[in-house]
Amino acid sequence: MSQYWSTRFAREGMIWGDQPSPSALRAKAWFLEQGVKSVLVPGAGYGRNTKVFSSDLDTYGVELSGAALELAAGWDSHTRFIEGSALEPQLDFRVDAVYCYDVLHLFLAGERRQLIAASLSQLRPGGLLYFTSFSDEDSNNGHGRMVEPGTYEYKEGKYAHFFSDVDLREHFFAAEVVKTGTFKESLQSHGGGTHEYLLREIFARKRK
Ligand SMILES: C[S@@+](CC[C@H](N)C(=O)[O-])C[C@H]1O[C@@H](n2cnc3c(N)ncnc32)[C@H](O)[C@@H]1O
Repeated sequence: MSQYWSTRFAREGMIWGDQPSPSALRAKAWFLEQGVKSVLVPGAGYGRNTKVFSSDLDTYGVELSGAALELAAGWDSHTRFIEGSALEPQLDFRVDAVYCYDVLHLFLAGERRQLIAASLSQLRPGGLLYFTSFSDEDSNNGHGRMVEPGTYEYKEGKYAHFFSDVDLREHFFAAEVVKTGTFKESLQSHGGGTHEYLLREIFARKRK
């Protein structure tokens, strides 16, 4: 997985441009309203979304790809980036919130559980979680070889899990789910044009 992303970041640079996902603005508005002061961003990439948080909050990005981190260093100097796996806790203190954009669907079932468990373990009791992931209503769902139930190799050598609302809620059974939703994300493609994806979002709170 890290080789795939590192090759892409090294070749394509800021793959999805420099504008944040609207989801980061929604999550930030919720975090600020709830008094959040610090946020962890697992799978932070080159900091496209961390920059939304780091202007006002103590922001920590965990990222596996060295190539992404090199870009991030030049893009978002206010976030503290940590090179390592988001599947393991990387902080020795707890944050008030976690924002995780389009990382959960990259993993098979065991690792998805690990990502959520690691995120919860670095969050203070009562802390907030905001995650996005591919929706089962996205047009790529069901394409290619089925790797696990709900997970398809939709492009050669690249698989993803496509979440129904029930499935997403079940993944966060250990937390209190505040609400879920669906939205259309428009991403810039390398070399021009845009890609549209249907994503699900979940707002949840760590139990006290
Ligand atoms: C689809 S990209 C999303 C990037 C970023 N969240 C954003 O909003 O731009 C997935 C990212 O997760 C990173 N990643 C994959 N596996 C990881 C892991 N185990 N730990 C940390 N980062 C990981 C990849 O290197 C890549 O940057």
